[in-house]
Amino acid sequence: MIRKAVIPAAGFGTRLLPASKSQPKEMLPIVDTPTIQYVVEEAVAAGITDILMIIGKGKRAIEEHFYRNFELELELEEKGKEKELEELKRISNLANIHFVWQKELNGLGDAISYARDHVGNEPFAVLLGDTLVQSNSGESVTKQMIDVYERYNESVVALEEVDRDKVSRYGVMDGKVIDKNIYLVENFVEKPDPEDAPSNLVIAGRYVLTPEIFDCIGRTKPGKNNEIQLTDAMELLLKERAMYGLRFEGRRYDLGNRLDFLKTNIEFALMRDDLKEGMEEFIKELAAKM
Ligand code: UTP
Repeated sequence: MIRKAVIPAAGFGTRLLPASKSQPKEMLPIVDTPTIQYVVEEAVAAGITDILMIIGKGKRAIEEHFYRNFELELELEEKGKEKELEELKRISNLANIHFVWQKELNGLGDAISYARDHVGNEPFAVLLGDTLVQSNSGESVTKQMIDVYERYNESVVALEEVDRDKVSRYGVMDGKVIDKNIYLVENFVEKPDPEDAPSNLVIAGRYVLTPEIFDCIGRTKPGKNNEIQLTDAMELLLKERAMYGLRFEGRRYDLGNRLDFLKTNIEFALMRDDLKEGMEEFIKELAAKM
């Protein structure tokens, strides 16, 4: 059973400056909800009850978002704003949420290493705090990955199918399909040229990892950008253990880059009953003016 998840959210978010200077990029809203709340809800929908967030300087707002604010609750109560009150209480009861500071921003692999004591000797899920994944089936991608873990008892990585000309932005999987949308991973290739890419399946910001990953991170030398890369540590893990890939049917939204952030806001607004009509009208008006 997987009960624990780790959400790395310590990164500077330089691609979203100046918005990310004094507020965490993970708190920037998609419509009216901070990105990281969607991430927590995905984990909770997968049965996760305990979440460790890796944070750092300037990330306090994340803590405040998930803790209760009694003054605000009292104010809402006095004003009879029951719907808002219930929603705030629901958010602060989503899971047991803990925080740890990454002392220096030495990369995603380094961030995960701070979870070692908290996670102990259990498998755990990792969900990047600036990335959303939505599956066409509506079932949480993390839940689908946990199901794959329970079948093989080995690490699982979420794979997104992308156009071949886009593979050079991502970590690409090399491996073979073993059952419908499940792959046995043989290797990863970081940001290859399209013609050298072993597949068009890329790592999509969701992982289930066995605790051996911590020793592998410990043995990982600084790689790209002089950071400890999680993909490099996973390559070491692959030398000792099998690893599986789950190709999910759906979409990944990388909210750490400007264009995807804007597109996601529009797409999510169009999915909302209360905003769809107004948004569609606005898009039509805009298109007519262009
Ligand atoms: P990114 O590659 O998006 O890096 O990290 P970043 O620093 O956040 O953003 P840019 O590239 O400067 O714009 C992917 C995930 O890993 C976390 C980030 O918070 C994000 O969720 N991360 C990255 C850490 O927690 N610590 C790190 O040292 C690096």
